Amino acid sequence: MKLMVTGGAGFIGSAVVRLAVARGHEVVNVDKLTYAACLDNVASVAGSKLYTFEQADICDRAAMDRILALHQPDAIMHLAAESHVDRSIDGPGTFIETNITGTYTLLEAARAYWTQAGKPESFRFHHISTDEVYGTLGETGLFTEDTAYAPNSPYSASKAASDHLVRAWHETYGLPVVMTNCSNNYGPYHFPEKLIPVVILNALAGKPIPVYGQGENVRDWLYVEDHADALLLVCEKGIVGRSYNVGGTNERRNIDLVRTICALLDDRRPAGAPHDRLIRFVTDRPGHDMRYAIDASRIRDELGWQPSVTVEEGLAKTVDWYLENEDWWRALQAREGVGQRLGQKT
Ligand SMILES: NC(=O)c1ccc[n+]([C@@H]2O[C@H](COP(=O)([O-])OP(=O)(O)OC[C@H]3O[C@@H](n4cnc5c(N)ncnc54)[C@H](O)[C@@H]3O)[C@@H](O)[C@H]2O)c1
Repeated sequence: MKLMVTGGAGFIGSAVVRLAVARGHEVVNVDKLTYAACLDNVASVAGSKLYTFEQADICDRAAMDRILALHQPDAIMHLAAESHVDRSIDGPGTFIETNITGTYTLLEAARAYWTQAGKPESFRFHHISTDEVYGTLGETGLFTEDTAYAPNSPYSASKAASDHLVRAWHETYGLPVVMTNCSNNYGPYHFPEKLIPVVILNALAGKPIPVYGQGENVRDWLYVEDHADALLLVCEKGIVGRSYNVGGTNERRNIDLVRTICALLDDRRPAGAPHDRLIRFVTDRPGHDMRYAIDASRIRDELGWQPSVTVEEGLAKTVDWYLENEDWWRALQAREGVGQRLGQKT
C-alpha cells in the first residue's frame, strides 16, 4: 500500500512509519513539526526509497490537496494531533484548531481526492483516536465501541469532536473510513513530558518524581509497537465504517507503574537505589479521569490482533531504550514547557 501518515514525526506516528516501511509499504509522512515532533524518530527509514517527508499543516487545505495529488496514497492514516492533556488545559485553542479544524480540513481534502479518483471502495481514511473520549470509569467495567462519549478534558473533547466528524463523513458522503480508539501508549521515542519518560528521566537525574494526586488513577498501558501493528491491521483489514478499541489489557494504578519503573532502575542503576524515595505526590490534574480500561475483544475476535508484550516486558524494554538513547532525550528536554508543571491554570 501507499500510505499517507499524518503526525509521523511524533511518538505513535513514527512507530507506524517505521513498521510500515519495514513491511514494504510506501509512506509519505506529513507533519507540521510542532514542539512534539522529532525527525530523529524516523531517521532509521529516512534513506529508504519507500519513504518521503512533507512538512505541512493539516489545517492547510491547499497543502493537503497538493500532497494528495502528488503522492496518490491508497490510504490516509491520520495521527497528527495536539496530544498532551496538561497543555490542553493551559491552551485549548491549538487543540481545537489542529484536532477539530485540522481533521475537518483533511477530511474535505480526502473527500475531494477520493471523488476525483472515482470513489474507489479500496480507499481508506483511518482516524486514530483515544479511549479518553469515553470519559472515566468507576472501579469496574470496560470501554467498548458502544460506550457513550463523555470527554472531560479539552484534549479528549477535541478528539471526540474529530471522531464525530469522521463518522459523519462516512455516513453522509460515503467516505470509506475506519476508526480506532486506543489506551495509553508507552515505549521508545515517547516525548519527555509524558508520565513514563518523566519517571525514568527524573529518577536517573535524582530529581523528585511527581505523581498526580495519590497515584490512584488507573490506565490500561499498551506498548507503542503493538499499537502500530494494530493500526496497520485495521487500515488493511478493518470493516469500513467500523471502529475498533485497542488496548493492552494491562491495567495499572499510576503509583504501581511508577514503582515498577523505579525497581527496574534499581536493578540497572544500583548506585541511585532505591529510586522510589524520589516519589512526590503533587496537586492533582483538574478533571483527572480516574480509570480507563479497554475491552479489545472486537479487534481480537474479528481481526486476530493481540499485544505481543506484557506491561512488565514492555517497561523493561522502554527503560533500556532510554538508558541507551540519552542524546535523543537530552535534546528534547530543552524544548519549551518540558520539565515544567503544566495544566494548573484553571
Ligand atoms: N499517546 C497516547 O497514549 C495515545 C493514545 C491513544 C491515541 N493517541 C492518538 O494518537 C495520535 C498520535 O499521538 P502521539 O502520542 O504520537 O502524539 P505526539 O504529540 O507525539 O505527535 C503528534 C504529531 O503530530 C504533529 N502535528 C501536530 N499538529 C499538526 C498539524 N496541525 N499538522 C500536521 N502535523 C501536526 C506533531 O508535529 C507531532 O509530530 C494522536 O491523534 C493521539 O490523539 C495517543
